[in-house]
Amino acid sequence: MTIWFGGDYNPEQWPESVWDEDIALMQRARVTLVTVGVFSWAKLEPSEGVYTFGWLDRIMDKLHAAGIRVDLATATASPPPWLTHRYPEVLPVTENGVRLQVGSRQQYCPSSPVYRRLAQNLVTAIVDRYASHPALEMWHINNEYGCHLSRCYCDVSAAAFRVWLQRRYRTIDQLNETWGTAFWSQWYGSFDEVYTPSRAPYYRNPGQVLDFDRFSSDELLDCFREEAAVVRAGSPRIPLTTNFMGFFKPVDYWAWASELDLICDDSYPDPSDPRSPMLAAMSRDLMRSLAAGKPWILMEQAASAVNWRDINVAKPAGMMRALSLQAVARGADGVLFFQWRQSDRGGERFHSAMLPHAGTETVSWRAIEALGHELDQHSDVVEGAVVASVAMVFEWDSWWSLEQDGVPARLSYLALLQAWYLPFFEAGITVDFVTTQSDLSGYSLVIVAGLFAVNPSELSPLHDFADRGGQLIVSFQSAIVDRTGRLMPGGFLGPLAGTLGVRIDEFTPIAAGTSAEVEGGIGSLWAERIVSIDSEILVRFTDGDLAGSPAVTRRRVGQGTAHYFATMPDPELLATLIQGIVAAAGIPAREGIPSGTEVVKRGTVTYVINHREGTVDVEVMERSN
Ligand code: GAL
Repeated sequence: MTIWFGGDYNPEQWPESVWDEDIALMQRARVTLVTVGVFSWAKLEPSEGVYTFGWLDRIMDKLHAAGIRVDLATATASPPPWLTHRYPEVLPVTENGVRLQVGSRQQYCPSSPVYRRLAQNLVTAIVDRYASHPALEMWHINNEYGCHLSRCYCDVSAAAFRVWLQRRYRTIDQLNETWGTAFWSQWYGSFDEVYTPSRAPYYRNPGQVLDFDRFSSDELLDCFREEAAVVRAGSPRIPLTTNFMGFFKPVDYWAWASELDLICDDSYPDPSDPRSPMLAAMSRDLMRSLAAGKPWILMEQAASAVNWRDINVAKPAGMMRALSLQAVARGADGVLFFQWRQSDRGGERFHSAMLPHAGTETVSWRAIEALGHELDQHSDVVEGAVVASVAMVFEWDSWWSLEQDGVPARLSYLALLQAWYLPFFEAGITVDFVTTQSDLSGYSLVIVAGLFAVNPSELSPLHDFADRGGQLIVSFQSAIVDRTGRLMPGGFLGPLAGTLGVRIDEFTPIAAGTSAEVEGGIGSLWAERIVSIDSEILVRFTDGDLAGSPAVTRRRVGQGTAHYFATMPDPELLATLIQGIVAAAGIPAREGIPSGTEVVKRGTVTYVINHREGTVDVEVMERSN
């Protein structure tokens, strides 16, 4: 078994005379898998119920003859102009009440019964025709759900939202109670009075906004499910997938993951951002976690530049290779690109591709060809597992809730997670992502950062984890509200306050651009006044109003330890503190990793990836703790 290599292939953008060259070059680069038909709806169904599959038959046959496997798309991501011309109600409406028009892509309301019916018809026709095509390797449902349009505020969406709310709350009294509509005269007499949370004069009801986030993610999931059901019925033995987008706020991938046969990710790290290797690693780790440890596929990345940043910095060939192998090292069994041949017209004509405009006498083509060959050497890691002993809790409810309006400080949930992930990445310690529902028994260290919205009862596994010998880290702005958005009953931190041995007295967020002094360094992003009840104080604030008050605490809990962080220590101080916690967790420390070098183990292979320019000499020592 080899690692899949290839990319999105859009033959419909080219005369058929180009296809033979495409295939010959694919073979030269050792392409094994191409995603076909993602944006082909208009070419496959030029008017309602009229299908033109001839061209797709021909390219599928050609690919098969060349031994190239196909990830066949259901083609529903971009409705054709005839569809919205005939059924304009399918067009989505923004938060500001603007109806989005045709001429781009993804212009459909996820709740639209018309869109869903027509998508079903198309998928049925595609599945009927290709389910037993010998080139078919997997099904690609839609594309990047919610990428441009994840929330629709039209009347159809409002009606669907009401149905969703009615299912959730049963009575309007229950909804009123949960959303706290006694506040600002928001009390509803019936579900008919409830709308989507469109633009309003001031802050919208937090419960309503949170439920709309959940509803919107669920509506997209329903779209996926409806297509998946058609595919499964007509093609039960072929795996199906859709492409995720890393840490993508609008869609709760935990709810989706178990519905896919295979987890796939699209990843476009910014070549000009020095943090890109770390950020990409984090996304890879999330995908592996969503796949419950099973292999996943890097479905899209850029061969060089994208075309959607203000300045589209070219990705050096070495970086393309390093980030590709990083995906393999972190559990991917496929490295694919958007797209095979660079378009010469349309909105993405300046986006790089495996085969650039300038042809094969180019640095980027040579790098692609070399990667295709190199991946052969990695086939022995395929299906090898990546084992992590550190887990970080990550949940969409908290992401949505922490970043709402009217909260104590505008914190970025991802920035918090990234700050916690960094020292582990730099120390070559692999991290899994989990939820409060996950089994923590395989981990020796668990990090809970910014877990803003959680029910008190869901916190006991964290206590038990420490009690059984785990090292628990809890950082500020965790367990602040329950999952309805109501302030945590019994006080902030809920039952974790007892586990941690601290009490939160007052939030004292740090003003933008400033920091708080603490023993041994500085704290940023956040500060708060906490009282140690029965915990040991490891670090104290040293200036201002908080001088002398605890910044980092530790408490023995059963066989383990619970740490609380009332601020975000600077990277150096954090790394030092974490070193101690890692040692206490008995996690082997890797020493001698130069900065800019990533170390990660998959199966029996240890990958050492140099993300800097030039060469680096590395002698990595593993010391058991
Ligand atoms: C993805 C998308 C592709 C292409 C790519 C460009 O979002 O799935 O179709 O648009 O981005 O970077």
